Amino acid sequence: MADEDWSAVDAYIGGKLLHDDPTLAAALAENRAAGLPGIDVSPLQGKFLHVLARAIGARRILEIGTLGGYSTIWLARALPQGGRIVTLEFAPAHAEVARKNLEAAGVAEKVDLRVGAALDLLPVLQTEGQSFDFVFIDADKENNAPYLEWALKLARVGATVIVDNVVRKGAIVDPANERSDVQGTRRFFDVAAGQKRWVATALQTVGAKGWDGFAIGIVEETTP
Ligand SMILES: C[S@@+](CC[C@H](N)C(=O)[O-])C[C@H]1O[C@@H](n2cnc3c(N)ncnc32)[C@H](O)[C@@H]1O
Repeated sequence: MADEDWSAVDAYIGGKLLHDDPTLAAALAENRAAGLPGIDVSPLQGKFLHVLARAIGARRILEIGTLGGYSTIWLARALPQGGRIVTLEFAPAHAEVARKNLEAAGVAEKVDLRVGAALDLLPVLQTEGQSFDFVFIDADKENNAPYLEWALKLARVGATVIVDNVVRKGAIVDPANERSDVQGTRRFFDVAAGQKRWVATALQTVGAKGWDGFAIGIVEETTP
């Protein structure tokens, strides 16, 4: 099956399960108008994250990788009254677009958007004593291994940690592929493999974003 067919199926399912949403459509339009790369999650993936966050009753969400805030809006909408999402973004220009989109979407008061390298910001969250029910990792794939380790430090027992783009069109199993993001994804799986505190699986996905995948797991209590 070709990529066009995957996109056609996404369009079909989206036509059935996604309602017209001018706010989300406007956020994507703003992202493209501002020249941000088209690497937001797809609408169906955004709703997948939303459903997942609601299913587990997440009140405190951490997102690593904001871009223009498209996935942030989906996640913020999943929060109950008083819930909060902390989202980390390296590029000030991306964060600026995200702030406008979050404001326009009416979710800004639920979002704590911090600008900087996630590996600098994550220790700050620890110092602040922050704890999360749901962590979505979607930034520079080179650092997915340390991001997983940080997620496990910051997530409460029973929390869900989900990581995007862990298949990279199958490149992870191509020994000739030495791209830094692919190597980062392999390091991520190595860390996940040795990690007893994360009960995890991964699913390959196809759709409007091509062939990729999500890793997802639950945080376990530390065992002696
Ligand atoms: C795939 S995009 C995020 C897409 C977003 N989650 C969505 O679906 O709408 C990755 C984002 O991570 C940001 N990023 C890259 N390196 C980072 C780092 N070291 N710390 C924090 N953010 C980073 C990029 O600037 C980019 O905006």
